[in-house]
Amino acid sequence: MAFAAGGKLAAAVSAAGGLGLIGGGYGDAEWLAQEFRAANGARVGCGFITWSLRKNPALLDLAFANDPRAIMLSFDDPVPLAERIRQRGVTLICQVQTVRDAKRALECGADIIVAQGAEAGGHGETRATFTLVPEIADLIAKTAPDTLLCAAGGIGDGRGLAAALMLGADGVLVGSRLWASQEANVSKRMHQAALHATGDETIRSQTMDLARKLPWPKRYTARVLKNEFIARWHGREEELVAVADEEAAKYRKAWAEGDPKGSNTFVGEVVGLIRDIQPAGDIIEGMVREACALLQANAKACRANP
Ligand SMILES: Cc1cc2nc3c(=O)[nH]c(=O)nc-3n(C[C@H](O)[C@H](O)[C@H](O)COP(=O)(O)O)c2cc1C
Repeated sequence: MAFAAGGKLAAAVSAAGGLGLIGGGYGDAEWLAQEFRAANGARVGCGFITWSLRKNPALLDLAFANDPRAIMLSFDDPVPLAERIRQRGVTLICQVQTVRDAKRALECGADIIVAQGAEAGGHGETRATFTLVPEIADLIAKTAPDTLLCAAGGIGDGRGLAAALMLGADGVLVGSRLWASQEANVSKRMHQAALHATGDETIRSQTMDLARKLPWPKRYTARVLKNEFIARWHGREEELVAVADEEAAKYRKAWAEGDPKGSNTFVGEVVGLIRDIQPAGDIIEGMVREACALLQANAKACRANP
């Protein structure tokens, strides 16, 4: 999670038994170095936005110098960055949004595929988690059974974790629920906006990228909370592009101030299940406990009704 997942959150996730990822995002060397320091030697990985990293591949060296547990590439073709990561012997995670991209990631030798559905917070595409995960699970079973699969998009409690395992995933990648944690780099105002929202109040849009003048490939939109900015510009993208200089300055100022009205709260549909800001370790422990109870109850029910 660009900006939100710094070293502190990544280290807390790893300490709780997960694998924490620093959100390298668009790639800012100074920020990245600072956040690896904040992880304080914890075994964490790092994620990058692939099309952006391709413009500044030297950032991979910065990540390598910090001995990352894994590198995640997401959004656009992982070639040739994947090759460098594999040559270095670092675990390669590819987050994909389509079966076509999953095939490509497998060709690149990904160790872990993250199948990201459209419910997800932040950037993504249109396929839903509920069908994308089992379809990619079948593909992996047939073509690369040693590759692990994580489900992403809409997983925020033990029910979601248990369901993902039932769909054929080996694990989950959790974004929004950990965005709403005490260790995340998120403004109090954005957290407050999320705590009062339902999943209905999110939307996928390109307006925030047009306003920030970020050259995202057209196929990707981002899920955010609806707000005044969205009400003003969503559906008026051409007009927004025409005034992007002016809007970019306003948007960046609002973003820097953590203002959930003038910029966007990046969060997924699962926001409707988030009602508190807990330590990341407690969130993970709660999810695992609930999923185990559900799976055990299910196993008992299956034994009782063969
Ligand atoms: C605030 C935020 C920022 C994100 N930034 C990135 C990013 O920089 N790179 C990336 O690959 N995915 C990013 N994502 C998407 C996550 O990797 C993940 O797919 C998603 O959060 C999973 O769905 P969920 O939000 O329902 O848990 C972001 C998600 C959020 C909520």
